Amino acid sequence: MNVIVAETAGFCFGVRRAVDTVYEQTERKRVVRPIYTCGPIIHNEEVVRDLESRGVSVLDEEEIEAASGGTVIIRSHGVGRRTCERLEEQGFQIVDATCPFVKKIHRIVQEESAKGRTIVIIGNAAHPEVKGIRGWCPERAYVVETPEEASELTLLAGTKLCIVSQTTFNYNKFQLLVEIILKKSYDSIVVNTICSATHERQAEARQLASKVDVMLVIGGKHSSNTQKLYEICRRECNSTYHIQTVRDLDPRWLEGKRSVGITAGASTPNHIIEEVHTNVRIKF
Ligand code: F3S
Repeated sequence: MNVIVAETAGFCFGVRRAVDTVYEQTERKRVVRPIYTCGPIIHNEEVVRDLESRGVSVLDEEEIEAASGGTVIIRSHGVGRRTCERLEEQGFQIVDATCPFVKKIHRIVQEESAKGRTIVIIGNAAHPEVKGIRGWCPERAYVVETPEEASELTLLAGTKLCIVSQTTFNYNKFQLLVEIILKKSYDSIVVNTICSATHERQAEARQLASKVDVMLVIGGKHSSNTQKLYEICRRECNSTYHIQTVRDLDPRWLEGKRSVGITAGASTPNHIIEEVHTNVRIKF
């Protein structure tokens, strides 16, 4: 059986960096305890539970004032300026694991706001990353997610805009929304801040699925990026299966097959991918 694991399967650079940062903190002797992550470090219950067993708790933003110091790690999505200030006011040591690509957006919105531009973020207003970006805009920032919202955006003619994007936003949709805004009589600059990690993972999964007999997509049941990966692979390979862990693997899927491809969603830890990989290699 030829088993190929996609190189881009699982954590992207920013998430891996943030998760590694938390584990590093747990191992350091001189860290101020208790250790918190500001929100769950990733959407993977198993990882959050494992961190809990090592003394790391999740601190929700609403709980900051009720807590009294320790170390808090900012996850890859980042947080707004005010959240950082509130953490400092409560006496927390902050370890910032915001993804550098998200940090770059924070810088852009600050600089362009200082130059008098109004910020428009293409993305989902409820997403923590977008909330964080918004939190670095000194003036009111607008969030646009749909063509209707783009059409409805009404500002004074000639308003100077700076349009940025949530890092995981779909590129085609971003272009469509930007086109709608550019048709209006504003003075706009557009900075494409979409991160290529998602696109690269999808492109590699598509390619891999097109050349194997069976494709396994590993990831949480409610993970939308895993679902998307599954759909992409299913179009290329009829025998595509979505599993959460090695326990979901049905041996019948692999009977008589010669090649298996494996990819995984953005919140799937390496050891789960490895476990599936080893299992397929050993048993088939
Ligand atoms: Fe990941 Fe950072 Fe890109 S968190 S998706 S590498 S913006």
